[in-house]
Amino acid sequence: MLPTTLICIALAQGAASPQSSTVPHAHAPASAAPQRAATPLPTVDVAAPVDAPGLHNVVAFAPDVLSGSAPEGDSGFDSLKSWGVRTVISVDGAVPDLDRAKARGIRYVHLPIGYHGFDEARKLELARALRDLPRPVYIHCHHGKHRSAGAAGTIAVTLGWMTPEQAVARMKVAGTAPSYSGLYRCTAEAAKVADAAISGARADFPEVSRPAGLVKGMVDIDLTWDNLKSVQKAGWTVPSDHPDLVPAAEAGRLADTLRLLHEDATVKTKPAEFQALMARNAEQAQSLEDLLAKFAAGARPSSEDAERLNAIASQITATCKACHAAYRD
Ligand code: HEC
Repeated sequence: MLPTTLICIALAQGAASPQSSTVPHAHAPASAAPQRAATPLPTVDVAAPVDAPGLHNVVAFAPDVLSGSAPEGDSGFDSLKSWGVRTVISVDGAVPDLDRAKARGIRYVHLPIGYHGFDEARKLELARALRDLPRPVYIHCHHGKHRSAGAAGTIAVTLGWMTPEQAVARMKVAGTAPSYSGLYRCTAEAAKVADAAISGARADFPEVSRPAGLVKGMVDIDLTWDNLKSVQKAGWTVPSDHPDLVPAAEAGRLADTLRLLHEDATVKTKPAEFQALMARNAEQAQSLEDLLAKFAAGARPSSEDAERLNAIASQITATCKACHAAYRD
């Protein structure tokens, strides 16, 4: 059998990033009494994920320790505040929304992890953050299903709050996809770690760790692609809840970022197939932009054109998935 440390492999990002910035505790005084949440604070015995305004897929891994999606806008942070959340930990690559958190006296800690799991140093750092920072704590990735639940599960075991079986069961409640076997393995093979070892972990807890190159590019790509999905849902017109979106410009930004990544130094070191997938994805995004650019502002594409746009969108998704299946998941 392989030793655990080799199996829960090292793909933590930004752990030693020189751009990490650390800012001391930013506790705003809690002036008003906390508002009562419309949704009660989820507990560990809740057998299904909970949604609240601006938050999705919230699952508790301990009393006052929640995993879920990235808080969306004011409503997401208001929901956290109404639960009395004092610390938010992001394990996602995206730069956290520090302004909205600070405005509510909530501290942000940014400790990104990969989809394959995370290394021992990041595990102890996360354990120390969850052990020592003020609770309730909300730990999030993007969708709140895979990496945040994986991190919460592993740390719940590392701190002795749960058995690996219980933590894996909570990951299943959160909807962690079975294909993220590295995340499941981290939790299944975790064990309680002595307090002294956790106290030896870094405690400078950056509020933002800027990911470099590929990860940053993927975060941008994901945001743009989400916007384009809203455009698609609106019949390839400007979505009413995003009146500022310009469909062709979003497709152009997607194509641009993919092209930039294709030229990125780390990507240049990847196998030829990886580079070919990146180039193909950029061309597909370009064809989406070209077609969208033909429609006058505010015009609704004919159903024939909408079909063509849908077909290109499916090809783009297939390329994202092909590369992730081979090189990420
Ligand atoms: C040629 C390969 C390739 C293509 C094409 C690709 N990706 Fe990725 N993507 C990756 C790799 C590799 C990672 C993992 C980076 C890491 O963690 O080091 C990743 C990571 C991500 C992440 C996670 C970022 C984070 O927070 O850590 C998202 C989201 C993502 N990709 C979305 C997309 C979308 C959407 C598309 C298609 C429009 C796409 N990707 C196309 C290779 C690709």
